[in-house]
Amino acid sequence: MKIKEIKIEDLKPEKFIEEKIQEISSEVGKGLAINALSGGVDSSTVTMLGHRALGNRLKTYFIDNGLMREKEPEYVVSLFRDLGVKVELIDAKRSFFQALKGITDPEQKREAITQTFYKEIFGKLVKQTGAKYLLQGTNYTDVEETVAGIKRQHNVLDQLGIDTQKRFGYKVIEPLIQLRKSAIREVAKALGLPEEIYKRIPFPGPGLATRVIGEVTPENIDIVRKATKIVEEELKNTKAFIYFPVLHKDKVTGIRNNQREFGFQIEIRCWDSKEGKTGEPTQIPYEILKKLAQRITTEVSGVVSVTYNITTKPPSTIEVI
Ligand code: XMP
Repeated sequence: MKIKEIKIEDLKPEKFIEEKIQEISSEVGKGLAINALSGGVDSSTVTMLGHRALGNRLKTYFIDNGLMREKEPEYVVSLFRDLGVKVELIDAKRSFFQALKGITDPEQKREAITQTFYKEIFGKLVKQTGAKYLLQGTNYTDVEETVAGIKRQHNVLDQLGIDTQKRFGYKVIEPLIQLRKSAIREVAKALGLPEEIYKRIPFPGPGLATRVIGEVTPENIDIVRKATKIVEEELKNTKAFIYFPVLHKDKVTGIRNNQREFGFQIEIRCWDSKEGKTGEPTQIPYEILKKLAQRITTEVSGVVSVTYNITTKPPSTIEVI
């Protein structure tokens, strides 16, 4: 790859921050830049870097694509408000669900999200604000997996030969592209972001859509969102790299109140991993697994089956699509 990784052992966070602030300032000049904050470690770090470099010449948006976790938009906006960063909330739920309608193929789902995000939503914001630059938190692992053709990460454009200037009318700046997740956490900490952000489990840009097998609809997202809340509550003490539920496409026969119930199946994944490149299933105590199954089947309407995935990456990947 033409991009060179900065390994965590070689990273000097303060120096890195100074350099990136310089680079962003000189590239954007007196112009305007925009960025999307999702509340994940990467986009939070980029938002702070951009804020330090550009002040109010960086316009930060939280795009509510309808694929976020429960109460996430309000949580992220208020957390950044407390840090002195103004974030504007954009309700784009309809556009994303419309674009995802009828699509079941994993890569097509990713493509639909990418197009809606960069062309429809950002294209419009760029025109409205007059910004010429988009700042985003693409990391080294995102690029590596996309270039290897494993999974097209939603935010990788340049490395796929996509000229954003020509195609969408703005240039993309990616200050974190040489870092992996653990190095980004160090930068986030050095930038003064709170622990609840720099220690946060990863959350993919395409959001809960990566956790629905088959068509993504508001109803399916609602099921997986409710299950996500339970899984995050029950597994936060595992200290695993990431944990989440997946909604399967096929229904299975269950029984409730002595009656047959043809219902949904949820798969739980919980990974021990350093950078997300490889992974091992976390050895979760059986009592916790039992509690997860019990809570999900009673609190999430229509779910009659819960399983725990015990595969390693490879041959699995961390997310299902
Ligand atoms: P995979 O599924 O590729 O996941 O084994 C590796 C890490 O990347 C996250 N992931 C994504 N992050 N956009 C993102 O920002 C994406 O499209 C995307 N797909 C996967 C995943 O959560 C894990 O941490």
